[in-house]
Amino acid sequence: MSFVVAIDGPAGTGKGTITKLISKELGLINIDTGATYRCVALYAIRNNIKLEETEKIINSLKNIEIDMENEKGEQKIFLNQEEVSKQIRSKEVTKIVSQISSIKEVRYKMVEVQRKLAEGKDVIMEGRDITTVVFPNANVKIYMDAEEQERAKRRYKEMQEKGIQMTYEEVLKNIQIRDKNDKEKEVGALKIAKDAIYLDTTGLSIEEVKDKILNIIKEKEKRLG
Ligand code: DC
Repeated sequence: MSFVVAIDGPAGTGKGTITKLISKELGLINIDTGATYRCVALYAIRNNIKLEETEKIINSLKNIEIDMENEKGEQKIFLNQEEVSKQIRSKEVTKIVSQISSIKEVRYKMVEVQRKLAEGKDVIMEGRDITTVVFPNANVKIYMDAEEQERAKRRYKEMQEKGIQMTYEEVLKNIQIRDKNDKEKEVGALKIAKDAIYLDTTGLSIEEVKDKILNIIKEKEKRLG
């Protein structure tokens, strides 16, 4: 039986960083589901498919194969056998990915891909609809949140560290647009599952958040025996 820790929340709450740390600490496979949508966005850009060409995007799904490899909590992502871990974080991909992920056919396919990636494994998985759609029966369900300005600051810092040129204002605007899009999706909209634990990370350090989540997982394990 596999053990699933599911984490949802908006962009910039630190889900990615936390998931990596916890996966290392507990030896869980880390699956960042946003990366799967980013692969579809990258494929569309590379093949000159425009956002409004929904049919073309849907048709391209059959040509997209996504794989992940995990090494000590570090995730590598492959699009049709090519490693694209870095390319999927580009400004261009970030700009269109939320809209790409709003196409319901894309979501159905990515949910399938994500479940397959987790099959038979002990995983920690983060995204927007993991606690509600992908694994509604996950062993541990957490919704991470933080104030918008703080999330934008964190993302801006991350972009700078990665050498991606974006102003703070651009990052904030991007977060606001993505939040709106993520929450208003027809399928798989970002929402707080009834039985998820709500965790506001505003003002908390990464270490503090990590400890809180580790405690939540340990409590749950105790109860599960
Ligand atoms: O977490 P991220 O920024 O890499 O996610 C990229 C986009 O994909 C984001 O706009 C929301 C979307 N997404 C989603 O709709 N469902 C998920 N499970 C994960 C991400």
